[in-house]
Amino acid sequence: EKGGFDFFMEKEIAEQPEALASTLSGHLENGRIVLDEQRLTDQDLRDVDKVFVVACGTAYNAGLLAKYAIEHWVRIPVEVELASEFRYRDPVLDRSTLVVAISQSGETADTLEAVRHAKEQNARVLAICNTNGAQIPRESDAVLYTHAGPEIGVASTKCFLAQIAAAYLVGLALAQARGTKYADEVAREFDAMEQMSAVIADVLTTMDPVRELARDLAKADTVLFIGRHVGYPVALEGALKLKELAYIHAEGFAAGELKHGPIALIEDGLPVIVVMPSREGRAVLHSKMVSNIREIQARGARTIVIAEADDEGAAAVADHLIVIPKTPTLLQPLVTTVPLQIFAATVAATRGYDVDKPRNLAKSVTVE
Ligand code: BG6
Repeated sequence: EKGGFDFFMEKEIAEQPEALASTLSGHLENGRIVLDEQRLTDQDLRDVDKVFVVACGTAYNAGLLAKYAIEHWVRIPVEVELASEFRYRDPVLDRSTLVVAISQSGETADTLEAVRHAKEQNARVLAICNTNGAQIPRESDAVLYTHAGPEIGVASTKCFLAQIAAAYLVGLALAQARGTKYADEVAREFDAMEQMSAVIADVLTTMDPVRELARDLAKADTVLFIGRHVGYPVALEGALKLKELAYIHAEGFAAGELKHGPIALIEDGLPVIVVMPSREGRAVLHSKMVSNIREIQARGARTIVIAEADDEGAAAVADHLIVIPKTPTLLQPLVTTVPLQIFAATVAATRGYDVDKPRNLAKSVTVE
């Protein structure tokens, strides 16, 4: 059943190329993005002038990434909110607000209640869900199913990548409806996403150094993660995976925030995992990150840097370098996440923990 792997989680990490491909499959027809269970008209989508993404845990981190893509492609504001906070805050919602609820299970109580609140306020609701016919898609106006297949490991992996792809599809559907992207541009973005399956498959074959590093760092008490731009939600997800699975104190930060507080945590030997911005795609952020690495090294940090191939700037400063292929910036999270999942799983397994069933956690939380 585990397909030769010790844990379902490892199998699910390995299934990510297919999870991504199946999620995208069939959603571009005659140059147009199509959603599932579409009960919204083109006019409804055209009228959307504000997006809220609501979700919990890993799905929330996927939502943070959606903000970068949707704002960039559609030019409308996107807010991302923890589902448990959303309805208690009296958010400003109306018929032209699209609430995107992301939930692997489609049953998470906090997210379901956020959806109900949104509907009461006349907002449109679109669900991104991995479970056919679950409650959240049933109560939504449109659905995009992530076809990642069943996810058994409590900590979400392949569904995270599928959620990112699905959320990007929502962005392209809105761009198409509102006319901020031509059909050929939508098709190009879609193709670029499809090509990521093969890239992720390649990345998966190069992860042995990450496993070795994870075994070496398995006794750490704290691990920090830093990123900028789309690398920031990836840093949050890397930290979430490590605390969920390995019970290690882990925190993700936007690297620009270091000097506003977190840098006080740096001490001799503290591991800091850095998600490096693309040197070509985000040159300014790249050089700021090189400076961040120098600043934390000067205070004793041991830096593990995930950087694109040919990134000499990162290679020159990193204590440990994890090389990933070059990709378009918005798609980089689909590859930078992979070493962080493997890192967390290997640290946890080295510490002797059940990677599929971390203590105190449930796969689907149906109480608020
Ligand atoms: C948590 C799970 O309880 O719920 C996480 O342990 C998951 O892995 C989160 O990300 C949200 O779940 P769902 O089903 O709404 O995506």
